[in-house]
Amino acid sequence: MTKENILVSVAWPYANADIHQGNVTGSYLPADIYARYHRLLGNNVLMVSGSDSHGTPVTVKADELGKSIAEVAGGYHDRFLTVFEGLGLTYDLFTTTDTENHHKVAQDMFTALLDNGYLYTKVTKQMYSPAANRFLPDRYVEGTCPNCGYERARGDQCDNCNTLFESAAELVNPRSKIDDSALEMRDTEHFFVDLPAIAKDGLEEWIQTDKEHWRPHVLNFTQKWILDEGLIGRAVTRDMDWGVDVPVEGYESKVLYVWFEAVIGYLSASIEWAKNNGTPDKWKEWWFGENSRSFYFIGKDNIPFHTIFWPAYLLGTKSLYDEGNENRTLNLPYDVPANQFMNMEGRKISGSQNWGVWIVDALERHDPDPLRYYLTAVMPESRDSDWSWSEYVTRNNSELVANWGNLANRTLKMIGRYFDGVVPQPSELTERDTTLLAALDAGFAEVGALYDACKFRAALQETMKLSSLVNQYLEETSPWKTAKVDVNEAGHALYVTLQAVSALKTLFAPVLPFTSQRLHELLGEEGTLFGSQQIVEYGEETRSHRGMTYDGSSAVGVWARSEIPVGRQLPKAKPLFKKLDPSVAEEELARLSQ
Ligand code: MF3
Ligand code: ZN
Repeated sequence: MTKENILVSVAWPYANADIHQGNVTGSYLPADIYARYHRLLGNNVLMVSGSDSHGTPVTVKADELGKSIAEVAGGYHDRFLTVFEGLGLTYDLFTTTDTENHHKVAQDMFTALLDNGYLYTKVTKQMYSPAANRFLPDRYVEGTCPNCGYERARGDQCDNCNTLFESAAELVNPRSKIDDSALEMRDTEHFFVDLPAIAKDGLEEWIQTDKEHWRPHVLNFTQKWILDEGLIGRAVTRDMDWGVDVPVEGYESKVLYVWFEAVIGYLSASIEWAKNNGTPDKWKEWWFGENSRSFYFIGKDNIPFHTIFWPAYLLGTKSLYDEGNENRTLNLPYDVPANQFMNMEGRKISGSQNWGVWIVDALERHDPDPLRYYLTAVMPESRDSDWSWSEYVTRNNSELVANWGNLANRTLKMIGRYFDGVVPQPSELTERDTTLLAALDAGFAEVGALYDACKFRAALQETMKLSSLVNQYLEETSPWKTAKVDVNEAGHALYVTLQAVSALKTLFAPVLPFTSQRLHELLGEEGTLFGSQQIVEYGEETRSHRGMTYDGSSAVGVWARSEIPVGRQLPKAKPLFKKLDPSVAEEELARLSQ
């Protein structure tokens, strides 16, 4: 089978807040499950992302904390790395948008769009602060609401009557939020991307072709967005000094709009990864290769940026980076399996109200696999879902421990007790045995198809069903009873069960990589199912940054059942999961209200 190149593009978190369970289940975890599944399948996976360091979200946070922007962005970036390492998210590269490489790739793309005639300039009006001698983003503007007279309306919205403003220009007596000084409207010139032109040159056709595999909510949202908002020109520069410089003379006081350059991160991170590995052209296998598919794991609030704008930029840059070669265009997204939102205990997750599970903190009390398990079981794939601590405890106990964990543990313990841990010799397999093992072998195709289609909840459910099937076999054959009368009969049943457990280990592995690895060792298998992660300091010419990388060269996992041979001495059994007391849920809930 020829190997496929699978690009796993993951949402870039703004470096202005800690990661909560909604972010994890929304994009990072499904991306990792997908990457791990394809790694086991033997495909070439490249999983990239990084911190989104630019834009007003980060500058506002720095102002709030009275710290430098770089310090704030760097601090959150470091905490992201801790979370991702703890949860076992296998990024081939997790970098930042504040690298020289990213700045250059973003500028290259801008220049290509300009050269291809897809950018134009237009004079617009923007709030200007004579006191600070600069233009102010709408988030820094406050004024009186023209609708209700509320004096502290924001530049984009009135919090009193909920009126949305097209621009801060609608406010009466606009003032600066920074120093309260009066603001005035001034003309400012910006670059706009000509979406109508790109629509005609291929975007429209692309959106309408071969999208049957897209999630209905993503496709509907995209089509509705085009109808409602229309494919009109959009500004791709801003009056700010924190960001990527606009590579055009006369634009020294402006930067590329954060939503223009952040999505370019998928490409720049792929290029940086290839450079870091000493194979500078290797990224092209995912971006130009024929046998390639790219997936963008994001939250629903990011849909138009990935299903409309990013494809438009890719189409508009034409043969950038392949010029003079085959003049190919960079690959467009194959799928954008956006997730919906996760609430917690029926309420919206909120940083300011400390309503959320902050993963940096939760990992100090909880193992990664139970978190991954629950976050997959209630992943908001097609509608919003809800995190509940008591449900977390219940599902950990009744599914992870009682179904899967006990199956593996009982099997290994009985082989320990009755056979000194040596894999017993079966007699000839009966139809019941072969039917069970055939169901597990078929599971690789069935569960695999679900993983491949990004139906992670269903993949997990299907695997848990197979685990129930094996539990049923164990109940029916009851080796703990037969061991007292006919030890060969017990050995036979335990041999078959052990082979089934070996299959389940791999079927569960994309979701439960840590415990699957431990089970791999308890089954006496060599090596590691997956490769290893590392946090590395990357040096560039004038700045360095920490990042995360993954090395899959040592991985031995394959997407198939591995036969555990008769006579193998197994290590001493140890449980994979812990039963949680209901008080765990109470304690966690009590933390929230502090
Ligand atoms: N930082 C933005 C957000 O969290 C964008 C993420 S995805 C990107 O919403 F690719 F566009 F950066
Ligand atoms: Zn109002």
